[in-house]
Amino acid sequence: MLRRISALVLAGLTAFAVASCGSESGGGTGGDAGAGGGTDDTIVMGFSQVGAESGWRTANTKSVQESAKAAGIELKFSDAQQRQENQIKAIRSFIQQRVDVIAFSPVVESGWDPVLNEAKNAKIPVILTDRAVDSQDTSLYKSFLGSDFIEEGKKAGQWLVEEYKDSSDTVNIVELQGTTGSAPANDRKAGFAEVIQADAKFKIIASQTGDFTRAKGKEVMEAFLKSNPDIDVLYAHNDDMGLGAIEAIEGAGKVPGKDIKIITVDAVKDGMQALADGKINYIVECSPLLGPQLMDLAKKVVAGEEVPTRVVTEETTFTQEQAKEALPSRQY
Ligand code: AHR
Repeated sequence: MLRRISALVLAGLTAFAVASCGSESGGGTGGDAGAGGGTDDTIVMGFSQVGAESGWRTANTKSVQESAKAAGIELKFSDAQQRQENQIKAIRSFIQQRVDVIAFSPVVESGWDPVLNEAKNAKIPVILTDRAVDSQDTSLYKSFLGSDFIEEGKKAGQWLVEEYKDSSDTVNIVELQGTTGSAPANDRKAGFAEVIQADAKFKIIASQTGDFTRAKGKEVMEAFLKSNPDIDVLYAHNDDMGLGAIEAIEGAGKVPGKDIKIITVDAVKDGMQALADGKINYIVECSPLLGPQLMDLAKKVVAGEEVPTRVVTEETTFTQEQAKEALPSRQY
């Protein structure tokens, strides 16, 4: 008897929660008891973003929000402030709200299986965007849309090999890694190392995380400069850390791009400007404009259509001359 009453109370509360959340976000969520469904045709997407740590991330958020609007998808957006526990909470809340589809950019690679299983049990499809998870069970998500970070690291390494092809001197490299445990930090490091290890003259003399932020990039580069007087090259896993490091290099009385060559990843406007100005020497592009493809995938997944399990973003690289040419029409 008690159990029946509790069930009725719970059902009432659930209906209330769903109705409130529909009105909060302007409707469209619906109160269908079926998994992930809505009462009208509007698709509701729960999106858990990593944070706002970089220019790349800001452009990515804009792309997702604008594309959702253009596609007529109702977006429930949550900013995790670079913390996995916040992302897990957000995903659990999306499950409770019975959204039609969940998309997220996992701050780190590991530790997602329990919450992804909860989404699967609730029959809510999940799309990974930008960053991957290391789950062995690939049935936990429908698709992964984003860059090939290993390839990005390799491109950075290939430029370096070419740049120093006529020299046999030792090349002392310092590396600013992205967020510890994140897919781009792991893969950009691995791809770069794979290419440069072919020649023993390339030596990574210091490698530390700068958490993908400008402030941390500056702070860590200052420490690198204090303990290593002979740095030839900086490889930064994103533009923002590279831009912070430029301030540290200038503060130490050295000339970025000349005394210390700099390779970064992303190609956001500020990074491209520094490349055009000769303060950065080479940028490997990582496109944040994932919104339109994400919305297409979401529509297909919700309609029960098959989608590719992996969609790789098309990207290029930039030298100083190419940056000068691209800057006037750069969107982000
Ligand atoms: O996951 C993509 C990376 O995250 C970008 O390269 C970096 O700028 C961002 O913070």
